[in-house]
Amino acid sequence: MKTLRLLLVVVFVAFGVVSCEYTFWVPEEVLVIPDANDPDAEQISFAQTIQPIFTSNCVSCHGGAQLPDLSEGKAFASINSSRYINTSSPEESRIFSYTNPDTDSHSQKKYTAAQAAYVLGWITQGAKNN
Ligand code: HEC
Repeated sequence: MKTLRLLLVVVFVAFGVVSCEYTFWVPEEVLVIPDANDPDAEQISFAQTIQPIFTSNCVSCHGGAQLPDLSEGKAFASINSSRYINTSSPEESRIFSYTNPDTDSHSQKKYTAAQAAYVLGWITQGAKNN
């Protein structure tokens, strides 16, 4: 009986602790993603939008030895091949699909939803060195 009472006390205390926790709501970054299929849409620039995604999220590992080399000045040449880019079926491009947050591959790092949308948009617009 004593054990049961002790157990109840523990359970109540545990509930108390859990219910006092606050959940902080952190808003997602607000980004305007151009519609990749709209020919009048703003062009997504490799240098200004895609390279900075690689620089801040990928070059810590993909800065040379680990392929593809995504460092500034090298990244475009590294991914400009059918292994990484498929402009006919942009979703199948490995530089998009492998690190897409919706897939199980590449647990080391994923794009955020917004970064994935930019990369996909850039490929859909022709994957240019712009
Ligand atoms: C913590 C280290 C690390 C980070 C950060 C990282 N990667 Fe990787 N990546 C790897 C390793 C290790 C491999 C090889 C093993 C594998 O395929 O998962 C790899 C493989 C890949 C491949 C497949 C290469 C091929 O030729 O098959 C792609 C594409 C890729 N990474 C893209 C990215 C992108 C884009 C980012 C940034 C958003 C990124 N990686 C960030 C470690 C990392």
